[in-house]
Amino acid sequence: MKQTILILFLFIGLQSLFAQSDKTEQKIDKLLSKMTLEEKIGQLTLYTSGWDQTGPVLRDSYKEDVKSGRCGNLFNAHTAKYNYDLQKIAVEETRLGIPLLFGYDVIHGYKTIFPIPLAEACSWDLELTEKSARLAAKEATAGGLHWTFNPMVDIARDPRWGRIAEGAGEDPYLGSLIGVAKVKGIQGDDFSDKHTMLACVKHFAAYGAAQAGRDYHTVDMSDRTLREVYLPPYKAAIDAGAATVMTSFNEVDGVPASGSNYLLENILRKEWGFKGFIVTDYTSINEMVHHGFAADEKHAGELALNAGVDMDMQGAVFQNHLQESVKEGKVSEKDIDEAVRRILRYKHKLGLFEDPYRYSDEKREKEVMFSEEMMEHARDAGRKSIVLLKNEAVEGQPLLPLSKSTAKIALIGPLADNKEDVLGSWHASGDVSKVVTLRKALTDALPKAEITYIEGAKMDNNTEEGFEAAIEASKNADIVIMAIGENYRQNGEAASRSNLDLPGGQQALLEAIHAIGKPIITVVMAGRPLTISWMDENIPAIVNAWHLGTMAGPAIVDVLLGDYNPSAKLVITFPRNVGQIPIYYAMKNTGRPFKATDKYTSKYIDVPNEPLYPFGYGLSYTTYEYGDLKLNKTEIGMDETLEVSVKITNTGKVDGVETVQLYIRDLVGSTTRPVKDLKGFRQVKLKAGADETITFKLTSEDLKYYNQQMELVAEKGDFKVFVGSSSVDVMEADFTLK
Ligand code: BGC
Repeated sequence: MKQTILILFLFIGLQSLFAQSDKTEQKIDKLLSKMTLEEKIGQLTLYTSGWDQTGPVLRDSYKEDVKSGRCGNLFNAHTAKYNYDLQKIAVEETRLGIPLLFGYDVIHGYKTIFPIPLAEACSWDLELTEKSARLAAKEATAGGLHWTFNPMVDIARDPRWGRIAEGAGEDPYLGSLIGVAKVKGIQGDDFSDKHTMLACVKHFAAYGAAQAGRDYHTVDMSDRTLREVYLPPYKAAIDAGAATVMTSFNEVDGVPASGSNYLLENILRKEWGFKGFIVTDYTSINEMVHHGFAADEKHAGELALNAGVDMDMQGAVFQNHLQESVKEGKVSEKDIDEAVRRILRYKHKLGLFEDPYRYSDEKREKEVMFSEEMMEHARDAGRKSIVLLKNEAVEGQPLLPLSKSTAKIALIGPLADNKEDVLGSWHASGDVSKVVTLRKALTDALPKAEITYIEGAKMDNNTEEGFEAAIEASKNADIVIMAIGENYRQNGEAASRSNLDLPGGQQALLEAIHAIGKPIITVVMAGRPLTISWMDENIPAIVNAWHLGTMAGPAIVDVLLGDYNPSAKLVITFPRNVGQIPIYYAMKNTGRPFKATDKYTSKYIDVPNEPLYPFGYGLSYTTYEYGDLKLNKTEIGMDETLEVSVKITNTGKVDGVETVQLYIRDLVGSTTRPVKDLKGFRQVKLKAGADETITFKLTSEDLKYYNQQMELVAEKGDFKVFVGSSSVDVMEADFTLK
């Protein structure tokens, strides 16, 4: 009986959903029938307002374009009031009154800034990630925004590429889960809820594989690598319901992404069934001329629309040329109608046709911005993103956590009292004045300590002017904390580096202070892995704190003083030097794997093959012991499940969170497989002395990969399974897929 009622309700629910969407479709059709071709193209046009441009500004007449119906969407326009006024132009002064869609790069926060995405990924905490995205959306929607160009799910294995800061690192499995968590956080499950916004999965595709790590550079890879490594996170985010996708600047296999039928039509729409709309990246249609793929902008616009692009970001190509292209029969008005439909559908879903001003509520804006909820979360996300890289004993005692009775501290470095740079790249409208620095947080936490702060060195030049004061302060201290790394402009878009050492005079300062012989803790704040081999050899304690955002200071102090036991683990390999790049854990074995006794094996003669710090690595103030690895069977059939269990014990003195990682290796494949492949992880919260047994489940689904015919299959054969605390520190066992 109960079941029948449930089915009935489900049936009625589905019917009303269909009826609703039918009604929306009718409204869209009706509207389309009234629209001129120019107005239709207006809906396919996205311009930046006067704020925060991220590329060349081609037009400053955007308000005129809105008024004439030639521009239906804006980005970089925000705050409740500002967007209200712009919306009013669209609604009251245009012929058809179609509301504007407002987009913005809310990447790791809107006003309250959370850790950069690369940092937060190191938390391996999907709930935390989803919450950050949800809170950022809550703040951004209160600031008049409907759409964020987030998540960026580009896999990146080259830290020279500055935009590595914006992604989730090198691994497609983890990257996919993080992408999904972000889409869920941003979009919630109901667009008509005014705390949710549209997500935009970017940059499609393979933008993170720019040659030599140089931004906007060529991408060239096998279809296998594309599908196995780079595409999964986009696909996962789309399967999670992401409303929109952004094309990338780069070419893939000789075709710029914004003109690629293969990527947009074949993969995205046909294979994956993507129903949302596709926006280009900033002027990337125009750039197809520079790529040598289009003869001129008009041609570029035709290639883009015919490949499946719906919206032109900032390039004005659609606006300037599409009408003529239609007249000449180079693009069809039917395809334009389809693109308009896709965009209008989302304006409907967001409720903008019912109330175009529903995101412009100044009262709500005031309540939400920098609320306690935001600031507390910024601190929590910050401390969970900090990776403890080294913590050696000095005089028989690990240097960290720092004793709260430490009397004299020298706090040195350009990031110790720095508000702007800790916000990281893409910090949207992050308010510098709200940032709590390390200096402030440390002083608040240790009111009795004598803390001497000296900037000491610069990040962007080699001046040694501040060295003397820094050395003096260090001589008088019990301990030196050095806050060093990158400024926010030294990573992010258009900020590739060919040298990943500490920039400016910081390395020289570090060495000068080291020479004094005082114990040093380095707090490295950067948007990418830096090459810190010297630091690793010479400095007893290294805390990798990335760029943590508004509450960077308190988050770092929580870790330094042991109020939070560090739990983050690297999602990106730290190379020893730039020459090792690209370096990642999921490498292939090669035909000549390294053997110390054999010269003719795959290696360098001047540096080991191993990275400085591997993927999955991160220390804690406690220790974990892994018991024996147990498999419930050693053979599984295609439909069976393998259970892999291990007991973890917290053998130290403090409570902690350990991320247990599971990798596999397929020993013989019809195409070669990586030496390790992440297939699962679990976070366990363990009180000091406590233990827990965890069980992973693996099926043939987890063992699938692309065979020579590019079919996704699981092949029978022998596998290794590894479980451990990093990609290197693992136990292993064998099993067979029958
Ligand atoms: C970036 C995108 C960003 C867009 C809009 C471009 O330069 O590549 O990631 O969303 O600008 O600001």
